[in-house]
Amino acid sequence: MNHSLIPVIAIDGPSASGKGTVAALVAQRLGFHYLDSGSLYRLTALAASRAGVALDDEPQVAALAAGLPARFEAGRIRLAGGQGKDEDVTDAIRSEASSAGASKVAALPVVRAALLERQHAYRQAPGLVAEGRDMGSVVFPDARLKVFLTASAEARAERRYKQLMEKGMSANITSLLQDLQERDARDAARSVAPLQKCVDAELLETTQLSVEQAVQAVLGWYRQRLR
Ligand code: C5P
Repeated sequence: MNHSLIPVIAIDGPSASGKGTVAALVAQRLGFHYLDSGSLYRLTALAASRAGVALDDEPQVAALAAGLPARFEAGRIRLAGGQGKDEDVTDAIRSEASSAGASKVAALPVVRAALLERQHAYRQAPGLVAEGRDMGSVVFPDARLKVFLTASAEARAERRYKQLMEKGMSANITSLLQDLQERDARDAARSVAPLQKCVDAELLETTQLSVEQAVQAVLGWYRQRLR
């Protein structure tokens, strides 16, 4: 099937906005594939620190990104290490250190270019829900539906806090809020693919919405576009 005919729903937004949860549910309801593009930047940062590569060493980090030895299986993510060993890094890439590392490597243009093809490969029938920062602006500019999903910084810090608690990880809400604001500022200020709402994206403000309400809003917009 011609790739450009396969529908994409692009959901972009700031850190901890809940776009991952909403995107995964929309994909499930529609029977579409799902791309969590942030996990690729997180994996790149983790692979770099494991390999002793400095996060600002653009050529080396990009080489790691291009050949990222990662496997996605049944909701778990595995990263191959040396000597044929591979490790479950599903939780490790969610740590605050990996979050900060991801946003640093994501500011490097050659790294972003190295991950582009890998992201395009997720566009498979019957469709794809892709979430990140530049899904609608750069990776899938011809997406059938573009959504910019956001919430207040305080609501997002609280959501991240609950998420970490549920995973049994320790967290401090004040430092989470500060980390989020720093990461948002870096993601919005960078010169390549900055976090921004595309003019043709629908704005979904979720501070006062439940997950189900947000999912229904996205599905509603998508149905409108099928008419
Ligand atoms: O979405 P998530 O918080 O997992 O993303 C981690 C980091 O990866 C973000 O802070 C951002 O810097 C980067 N990212 C990006 N472009 C994407 C997805 C994530 O720059 N499409």
